[in-house]
Amino acid sequence: MTDWPHSYAPRAARIAASEIRELFSLLDRPDIVTFAGGIPDPKLFPTEEIADACRRILADPAKASQALQYSLSEGYIPLREWLAGHMGKLGVACGPDNILITNGAQQALDFLGKLFIAPGDTVLVARPTYLGALQAFNAYEPLFDALPGPGHNRTPASYRGNGRHPPKLGYAMPDFQNPTGLSLTKNERLALLDAADALDFPLIEDIAYETLRYDGAPIPSLAALATARAGGVEKSKVIACGTFSKSIAPALRVGWIVAPQELIRKLVLVKQSSDLNTSCFTQMIACEVAATIYDRHTERIRVAYRERRDAMLKALAAHMPKGVQWTKPEGGMFVWVTFPDSIDGAAFLRRAIEEAQVAFVPGEAFFADRSGRNTARFGFTLNDPATIEEGIRRLGALLRSD
Ligand SMILES: Cc1ncc(COP(=O)(O)O)c(C=O)c1O
Repeated sequence: MTDWPHSYAPRAARIAASEIRELFSLLDRPDIVTFAGGIPDPKLFPTEEIADACRRILADPAKASQALQYSLSEGYIPLREWLAGHMGKLGVACGPDNILITNGAQQALDFLGKLFIAPGDTVLVARPTYLGALQAFNAYEPLFDALPGPGHNRTPASYRGNGRHPPKLGYAMPDFQNPTGLSLTKNERLALLDAADALDFPLIEDIAYETLRYDGAPIPSLAALATARAGGVEKSKVIACGTFSKSIAPALRVGWIVAPQELIRKLVLVKQSSDLNTSCFTQMIACEVAATIYDRHTERIRVAYRERRDAMLKALAAHMPKGVQWTKPEGGMFVWVTFPDSIDGAAFLRRAIEEAQVAFVPGEAFFADRSGRNTARFGFTLNDPATIEEGIRRLGALLRSD
C-alpha cells in the first residue's frame, strides 16, 4: 500500500479533520435539534427570483453564451459595478476596478493568505475567530497572535518585543462576529486601525454578516473608516471581503474583495492560477437578484432571524442555570455561550447529543491556541422559535441535572 502521508508536503500536517466534525455526521437524525450550523435557513432562499433570473439569462442567446463561457478573472463587470455602488452605500467609495469576484469569501481568505503569509509569519486574529479563516491561513504556515481589541491590553511595542516577528497581517470581523455575535464599537474600530497603522500591517475586514443587523444603528466599517482616514480606497490598508452567502444563497459561491487596484491586479493573477474565474452564470444570477430584490429580500431574512435571535435569548434567560453566560448580539447568526470553568464544551456536546438530542459547536475550534474549552457557539438561524425554546430547555435541564 502507498504511504501517502510520507509523500505530503510538511504543510499538509496542518490540514487535519476536527473530531467535532465527526460528531456532525449524527446530525442527520431528525430527532436532533441542532444549533451547530452557521448557515442560512433554506426556507428563506429567494428560490423563485433565482429561477426567474436563470430563465431570463438562458432565454437571451447573447446572455446565455456569456453565462456559460469562460469569463474575466476579475469578475462579471455589471456585478462589480453593482458591488461598487453597494460598497459606496457602506461608506467605501470605490469603482469596479477595486473589486475582484471570488468563489465565496472563503476563497478570498485563501488568496489573501497565499499572497501575504510566508511560513513563520505572524497573523493577528481575534480570540475566538472564524474557524474557516484559521483553516485558510493555516495552510500557509503562520503563527497566530491576538489581534488588539477588547480584552487584549497590548501595545504596538508588545507585538514586537520578546523576539516576536512583527505582525504581517490582521483579520477582523467587526460586525456580529462569527462565533461570538459581538460587534466592535466605533472607538474599538478606530483603535484597531491605529494599531494596524502603528505596526504597518494590512488588515482584512470580513463583512460576511454586515447585512444582518436586527437592532441598533450601523457602525462604519473598518474599510469605511480607513478610506476616510487615508483619503480614498487606493490609500487604504483595509481589505474588505464580502459574500452573498448570507444575504442570497451560499450555493451561488459569489464573494468579493475590495482593495486598492494594485492589490486587485495581483489577486487577479492569483485567481487565474487557481480557478481561472468564478462561474459567470452564478455571477449573472447574483447580479440580477441583487439588482432587483436585495433590499426587500434582506429585510425579509432580518425579520425572520431577529425573531429567532430573540427566541434564543429569551430561552437562555429562562432555562440556563446560574453561572452560564451568553452574548446578546445585535445581528448575525450566533450567540456565544460561556459555561462554568468545570464544563468542557466538547464533552458536554457528546452528552447533549446522546442525552438531550441537541447539538452546538464547542468553542475550542474557534481559538488558534485551542483555549476556550468552556465555551460554545449556538446558531439561531435554522430553527423556528418553538424549536429553539425546546432545544435550549433541554440543554438547561441537562446542565442542571449535574
Ligand atoms: C465570517 C465568515 N467569513 C466567510 C465565510 C465564508 O463564506 P462563503 O460562503 O462566501 O465562502 C463564512 C461562512 O460561514 C463566515 O462565517
